[in-house]
Parts: sequence; structure tokens; C-alpha cells
Amino acid sequence: MAQDTSQNVFQGKKVALGICGGIAAYKAAEVLRGLQKAGCAVRVAMTARACEFVQPLTFRALSGEHVVVDDYAPDNPDPIAHITFSQTVELLIIAPATANIIGKFANGIADDFLSSTYLASTAPVLIAPAMNTSMWEHPATKRNVERLKADGVIFIEPDDGEMACGTIGPGRLSEPERIVAAAMEILQTTSGVVVQDLAGEKLLITVGATREPLDPVRFLSNNSSGRMGFAIADAARKRGAKVSVIAGSTTAEAPAGIALIRAFSAAEMHAAVMNALPEASIFIGAAAVADYRPAQSAQQKIKKTDTEITIKLERTEDILADVAALNRDDLLVIGFAAETENVLANAREKLRRKNLDAIVANDVMREGVGFNTITNEVTVISRDGKAPIHVPLMPKTNVATIILDQVVRLRARVKPTSHQRVVNGRKKA
Ligand code: PMT
Repeated sequence: MAQDTSQNVFQGKKVALGICGGIAAYKAAEVLRGLQKAGCAVRVAMTARACEFVQPLTFRALSGEHVVVDDYAPDNPDPIAHITFSQTVELLIIAPATANIIGKFANGIADDFLSSTYLASTAPVLIAPAMNTSMWEHPATKRNVERLKADGVIFIEPDDGEMACGTIGPGRLSEPERIVAAAMEILQTTSGVVVQDLAGEKLLITVGATREPLDPVRFLSNNSSGRMGFAIADAARKRGAKVSVIAGSTTAEAPAGIALIRAFSAAEMHAAVMNALPEASIFIGAAAVADYRPAQSAQQKIKKTDTEITIKLERTEDILADVAALNRDDLLVIGFAAETENVLANAREKLRRKNLDAIVANDVMREGVGFNTITNEVTVISRDGKAPIHVPLMPKTNVATIILDQVVRLRARVKPTSHQRVVNGRKKA
């Protein structure tokens, strides 16, 4: 979450951060700082092995609180800390979590402070694992993770990449920013509080796949489910925006509380967008719009013959480019780029060519990324020169939150004063 806007909402929220033994233990300091910046009061518990990687003193200095390793230790100010600690927190985060602690949690073993705390706590639990790829992929770990998920524990899957041991694969601790964002989402859900940082904004977003008819029963299309766009629409509504969605074909369920207009072909979607655009203050093109359509759509079903047929394709309207070409200085324009090669270079080229404020690039060749997946991994590149934001693989609902954080940031920069608003055709400064 954008920390400046989250501060008051999370002020004083009691969060426990459990740290296990692994190279990634040092990254827990960044998680702690992120939580504190959001306003949370954080207490830290460490396993004995974690203390071999980072000294408890580091976390004591950062949190200003005694760090509990062993509640039977003579220096522990609270002799039944695993009860008082666990029952006063509103969220328990384990980052990094080892295969060992996951196994203990899954099997109800409580042989140290952290595992006793887990068992004694009624707060939601967020686990960010970090371990060697083979350990992460071992059937025993998978079994334990599934069992904990069934118990309601929320996981932030580890990232893919090179491990400290040189192995390449999944197992790296997720980015601290992502762990903090997930924690904020849980705290928001449990407290029923959502930051209203898009209040007053009117979001118009395209979603799903277009269909370009060949004849009355066949069409050219793609595999977009609409999940990414709907996740953004839903999150934006919860953050206070009035949301209109122009949707092509979708298999994901549309969220409640939005205005939904169906438009199946690129031409229909173009017309629907242009009709709704004067009202909008933010436009996001998340739909997978066909670049070409059959130059002619047959009136009757095309009959099968023994000869080949050739279908001539013509260009469709480029909705996103046409929106951006209006150069409205009261409108933030954000596109997506679905790429299969040279992802960032191609996305940058689209950002420049279509004159966008930002573009969200996804490498749709990667597992779990892009079309018809529950997760996504994206890079948000903005025109204002800020370093690109890489959002590692995570549920599209979480990706949506991070994209909207960037929308809020960019909107604050470009938002004109009221007398400048609604001036179609004006050049952006
Ligand atoms: O719906 P999901 O299953 O959740 O999948 C999500 C997604 C992969 C569809 C989404 O993350 C995504 O990448 N959407 C954009 C897909 C796309 O058409 O990308 P593109 O690189 O071809 O187009 C670039 C941009 O121009 C997009 O914002 C697109 O909406 C827009 N465009 C493209 C062509 C066209 N004729 N008009 C447009 O407005």
C-alpha cells in the first residue's frame, strides 16, 4: 500500500512478526520498517536459528520492544509471553518461514516460542516462506502448506530466482513491499477499513477479450478471463472510486458495485469507451483487444469445402491510443502491454508511441502470468521517470492493489485544479 495514505488507518495495529532461520532473515528488517511506516506497532519473535543469521538486538533497536526468542529465558520480562503475545496481536506474520516451522504449524507442534505463539493465537496468519527450491517443492512441504491453507493461513508464495545456494527456482522470500501490502490487505479486511484514496475519482476500465466475427458462429478472440481488470475495478471501488467497466467476453465474475457495459468487438468497445470517457478521470486499458478483424464477416456460416480459404484481416480501432490522443490534462491514461519477448523494451515503446502516463507490462509466456490465470507478475513503467515498479508473482487482487497505489501517486502529480478540468483536446503539460 502507499504508505503515506495508509498511516492513519493502520495506526497502532498490533502486528507480530515471527522470524525463522535462513539467509532471508535480514529482509525481515525491511518488513518491520514497512509495517511501522504504515503505522503498525510491531513486536518481534525469533527462532533460535534465526538468531544465528541476525542478532535480536537489530529487531529490538528497530521495534523498541523486547524480542522474544525463548519465553523461559530469564531476561524475558513476560513469563507467559506466548499467551499474552499471541492473544494481543491482530495479525501474525512469519517472514521468512522455513520448511521446519511450516511443518510444525501444520502438525500442531509447539516446542518453541514461535510455534507455541501460532497455536495460542486467534489472529489471522500470513506466512512468507523462504527455502531451497527442492525443499519448497518436496511433497511433505506441499502437504503442510495445503493443510495450513485449509486451516485459513494465508501464504505469499516465494519468488523465483537464484538462491543463496546457487539453485535457480522458486524459494526466495517474496519482496518485503509485497509482504507489507498483503499484511495491509488482511488488516483492512479484518478491520473493515479501506483507505479512500480514490474518493472523487471516476475510473473507466476495459476488461476481457474482444471477439471479431468471421461468420455468425465463429470469431477471432483470445483467452482473457477479465480477472485482472475486474480485480482493479473492485479494488478501485473499495478505495472510493466510481467505476465503469466496459467488458468484452469474460469468464471471471464481475464484482459488485460497478457499472458494467458489455461490448464484444473492438469497434463496439471503442464506441462504448468514447461514450463514457467524458465522465472519467482515470482510464485503464486492461482488455485484450484484437488488433485485427476479418475485413468481412460472412452473413451465413462459412461452409466447409475442399479448397483452402483466405481471410483478409484489417486493423481495428486502437482504443487506448485514441483515448490518449485526446491529450486531456484531467485524465490519467494507463495501458497494459501483453508481451512474449523483449517485454520491457516493447512496453516502453507502447508507452511512448501511445502517449500514456503509465503502462503495466506482463510477460504472458511465463507460468502463472497474464491470460486466464489467478496470479500475475507485472512491471509498472511510468512516464514521469520514476524507476519501474516490479510486482512479483502474486494473486491478481494483490497486483491490482499495487497498480492502484501507482495510480494514486500519478494522479496526485497530474491532477489539475478544478478550473482546468474537463477540457477535451488540450495538450498535457
Ligand atoms: O483477463 P485476464 O485473464 O486476467 O488476463 C489479463 C491480461 C493478460 C489480459 C492483462 O493483464 C493484459 O495484459 N491486458 C492487455 C492485453 C493486450 O491487448 O495487450 P497489448 O499489448 O496487445 O495492447 C496494449 C494496450 O493497448 C492494452 O492496454 C490494450 O487494452 C490496448 N489496445 C490494444 C489494441 C487495440 N486495438 N486497442 C487497445 O485499446
